[in-house]
Amino acid sequence: MHATVVYESMFGNTCAVAAAVAAGLADGGTDTELLPVADAPLTMRARTGLLVIGAPTHAAGIPAPRTRTDAGFWAQADDPLTPRVGIREWLDAVHGDARAVRVATFDTRLRRPTKPGSAANAALLELGRRGFTLVAAPESFWVGGMTGPLLPGEVERARAWGVALARTTGARASSAAASASAPASASAVTLDGAPLRAAPMPRPT
Ligand SMILES: Cc1cc2nc3c(=O)[nH]c(=O)nc-3n(C[C@H](O)[C@H](O)[C@H](O)COP(=O)(O)O)c2cc1C
Repeated sequence: MHATVVYESMFGNTCAVAAAVAAGLADGGTDTELLPVADAPLTMRARTGLLVIGAPTHAAGIPAPRTRTDAGFWAQADDPLTPRVGIREWLDAVHGDARAVRVATFDTRLRRPTKPGSAANAALLELGRRGFTLVAAPESFWVGGMTGPLLPGEVERARAWGVALARTTGARASSAAASASAPASASAVTLDGAPLRAAPMPRPT
């Protein structure tokens, strides 16, 4: 199976998690490609059996042009990196046979119950609406502050998540064709037959 990991990152934390997830997928025996969203193709490659998407959580969801500009101020750089194309724009532009592609999403965010909302959750809901096959619950990896760093152990956890994803999707490869023929519904996004809720998932500190 071939997996593509596509990520957006302003300060490097989601990039580090994406690299660890890709390494874990490879550990799990998956042929894996890691791409920053600016380099991701707009046509879904036929060989991509698993698409993993990662983004930082901004304003409780997927980064938008305004939040990327805000992030530029946090960067405190003379020339802050404010990319115009992120996961949100890529999802709007990418095309291909969505039913044939299994997807999983992750994000990075602050581990604070007062800041609910998750880019991974929002992205997975969007992908489900578009007819992709969802294979895992959205996963969050924690940063200690607005610009990072990742909390201790998060890179290792990301790698283990990648391994688990490789095992899950490898095991499900044979059943993917059957689920691809099921009708997609814009109103009912499900994961393993259960409704995927948009509600944020705050976790205890
Ligand atoms: C404009 C902006 C809005 C943010 N909003 C949230 C938020 O709603 N919830 C949260 O947990 N973290 C929020 N954060 C923290 C980001 O999740 C954090 O910057 C990100 O994990 C860093 O990833 P990166 O280095 O890949 O950009 C925000 C950060 C920025 C810059």
